[in-house]
Amino acid sequence: MSRETIESILQEKRLFSPPAEFAQNAHIKSLEQYQELYDRAAADPEEFWAQLAEKELHWFQKWDRVLDWQPPFAKWFVNGKINISYNCLDRHLTTWRKNKAAIIWEGEPGDSRTLTYAQLHREVCQMANVMKQLGVKKGDRVGIYMPMIPEAAIAMLACARIGAPHSVVFGGFSSEALKARLLDAQAKLVVTADGGWRKDQIVPLKDSVDEAIAHNGVPSVENILVVERTKQKIHMEPGRDHWWHDLQAGASADCPAEPMNSEDMLFILYTSGTTGKPKGVVHTTGGYNLYTHVTCKWAFDLKDTDVYWCTADVGWITGHSYIVYGPLSNGATSLMYEGAPRPSNPGCFWDVVEKYGVTIFYTAPTAIRAFIKMGEHHPKARNLSSLRILGTVGEPINPEAWMWYHKIIGGGRCPIVDTWWQTETGGFMITPLPGAIPTKPGSATLPFPGIIADIVDLEGNSVPTNRGGYLAIKYPWPSMMRTVYGDDDRFRRTYWEHIPPKDGQYFYFAGDGARKDSDGYFWIMGRVDDVMNIAGHRIGTMEVESALVSHPAVAEAAVVSRPDEVKGEDIFAFVTLEGSYQPSEKLKEELKQHVVKEIGTIARPGEIRFADALPKTRSGKIIRRFLRNLAAGQDLVGDISTMEDLSVLDKLREGT
Ligand code: PRX
Repeated sequence: MSRETIESILQEKRLFSPPAEFAQNAHIKSLEQYQELYDRAAADPEEFWAQLAEKELHWFQKWDRVLDWQPPFAKWFVNGKINISYNCLDRHLTTWRKNKAAIIWEGEPGDSRTLTYAQLHREVCQMANVMKQLGVKKGDRVGIYMPMIPEAAIAMLACARIGAPHSVVFGGFSSEALKARLLDAQAKLVVTADGGWRKDQIVPLKDSVDEAIAHNGVPSVENILVVERTKQKIHMEPGRDHWWHDLQAGASADCPAEPMNSEDMLFILYTSGTTGKPKGVVHTTGGYNLYTHVTCKWAFDLKDTDVYWCTADVGWITGHSYIVYGPLSNGATSLMYEGAPRPSNPGCFWDVVEKYGVTIFYTAPTAIRAFIKMGEHHPKARNLSSLRILGTVGEPINPEAWMWYHKIIGGGRCPIVDTWWQTETGGFMITPLPGAIPTKPGSATLPFPGIIADIVDLEGNSVPTNRGGYLAIKYPWPSMMRTVYGDDDRFRRTYWEHIPPKDGQYFYFAGDGARKDSDGYFWIMGRVDDVMNIAGHRIGTMEVESALVSHPAVAEAAVVSRPDEVKGEDIFAFVTLEGSYQPSEKLKEELKQHVVKEIGTIARPGEIRFADALPKTRSGKIIRRFLRNLAAGQDLVGDISTMEDLSVLDKLREGT
């Protein structure tokens, strides 16, 4: 965050109470009701979650124990039998929701499609049977690399139905990044499309899959299932590659949901950490189903009449929890959009809101800031009066963007839910409940009932009000990640040892800095580790550094982020070159392209600066603090006496 943003957040005093009529009709109607729920959950979390699990979900068999907590490993609803695809589909078919829209899809080139719960159920069952035919068994991992089309959700639900954990890889990742994830997950099947539409262009997804698995690069992959989306020419390997529509045509729509153990793995989702290798975050079935269901219902105050639209991609946790599982488990109508705002169509989001009468709209601060830049005449030219709740996620929202969102998009009448959470947490952790909790621009407000959140120092002591510290969670919750896939040790080290346990109290270390104000409201300040937040996407500095040094011209690279008006942060790379290479604009461009090839467009550095040397301590550690100051054009903050060679700094300032 920039210094100006931090200052404006520190001075923020405005308070917006839920409109009275909204509160009256909300699931959670008042601050008192929230407080009562919060206190009840804190006093007996197991009883709180058990009651909700019984009331909100269908279980094939009840659990014998609500929580088995052997820190840092948690098991929820032990020995319960459940299937999230059943909860998202089958149970709605015996109600009037059978013919309600489950997914409304708006495609990029102007096509659209609506799937009712009955239709979605039918297609999911067919694809589940197709997967079985292709040899996928309970426990086998399936890679999903798809554009934003209904088949992405269908593939996820089909996996869940037969108990094959999915690993969705964002379609904007490169073939190299895809390969690393498929290899780690040992995927047996990959579901993809011939291509996808992104900002007026076709992304050749199947070609990337071919590259990822070429030369037996991912030996575990036996079959590839391909959706026809863009109809451009692709290679189809006989025996290995199959068209989705061909296999669907012959598939039975009868496929009972497999009763899964509550703790069976539902999915792996890779996310960036402080090392170059992404972590496979593991989520399991029962607790995740419950938590995403309840948070979606209460934080978005879901009603049967809502048209709910989350603009994320299914390749991120937001898409998993709040496009697919949370809304469908509630029997809601979830809108999926393949497009993205871009100069050629700056009003496209507002056209979608108007066309479908969207009532709940959930997006990221970076998108809001981009809309501000594009001008308020775009939203003002559309009818947005159907909206009743607005949401934001992914990075701290600056109060100016919050106010614009509130006034221009929400017409001053829609509560804003600023939801703080992470891939690891599975669902919202700190968020307003829109009928109950007054909001302050820039604050995610209060923890969800059942979440014991605190701001602590590295010894685990709570820090005083309004003092910055580390955001930690002090009690397990149902949708917490269970481990790093195949690496329990990394799970323990990354999340549970930064703040060592004290008197039997364990601290989940979120990696975010935050403070709490005198009303107990949380203000998230951003990451405290080497993870950057670029346009709401989480990217590790080490990932980009590894990508850069894999280019023959690069001897050493140090990557930091600098504040950016629209993206929040942008990537700034300092690079020293191998002897025979000379700095040039052409080489800069080549290196940026190289990062795109290694990771994907989301990691393209905004700026590369060549340097003779990087600032290091006498023990050889790169001093990133200085690089961050330089990247932001600020004076150097901190002690320079530990530096090995002071002349390095002058040269870096001059830079090329
Ligand atoms: O730094 C926090 C930021 O995004 C990180 C989690 O990123 P990821 O796992 O990709 O999940 C993003 C979507 C849930 C957090 O550690 N973050 C997320 N939501 C907020 C936020 N920062 C401030 N306010 C938020 N509402």
